[in-house]
Amino acid sequence: MSTLIVYASKYGCTEKCVKLMSKELNDKVDLINLKNIRDIDLSKYDKVIIGGSIYIGRIQKEVTEFCSKNLDKLKEKRIGLFICGMQEGDMINTELNQNFPSELLEIAEAKGHFGGEFILDKMNFMEKLIVKKVSKVTSNKSNILEDNIHKFTQEINSI
Ligand SMILES: Cc1cc2nc3c(=O)[nH]c(=O)nc-3n(C[C@H](O)[C@H](O)[C@H](O)COP(=O)(O)O)c2cc1C
Repeated sequence: MSTLIVYASKYGCTEKCVKLMSKELNDKVDLINLKNIRDIDLSKYDKVIIGGSIYIGRIQKEVTEFCSKNLDKLKEKRIGLFICGMQEGDMINTELNQNFPSELLEIAEAKGHFGGEFILDKMNFMEKLIVKKVSKVTSNKSNILEDNIHKFTQEINSI
């Protein structure tokens, strides 16, 4: 079995989570950052894991584009979906459900929320302003949910 993880990450948090995940997966795993590669041959993969970070309620646009462009092929795969973000509670499900096509949400065999990071030094002026105002964060904050990553990879391994 062969697994592909496709993701988009702006400041590296999603990429960190993807690397943690790939270490725990049993299959041969390829990682593709959609910021670098857009045309992907899906034919050699049985499982496809798709994820990205959320900014102001929206997943990175490369993820949305990848899903809609490849929807028919993706519907034939075993699918896992995840998001990275700093929201908590009920908002997590809302963000997940609003950012992937219903056709993939219906067939996904694993769905995960891996938490996130606020690294103020990496953000531009506007982002810093939004984060400080909305989240009241004044210094770097990391909340990567390793237990959720572990649970997600176990679900993918059991397919
Ligand atoms: C301007 C801004 C807006 C954000 N909006 C959201 C949001 O709506 N929901 C959420 O869960 N996280 C939000 N986040 C948190 C990011 O998803 C988090 O920083 C994530 O770890 C970024 O991952 P990346 O480095 O892979 O892009 C926001 C962060 C910034 C800087």
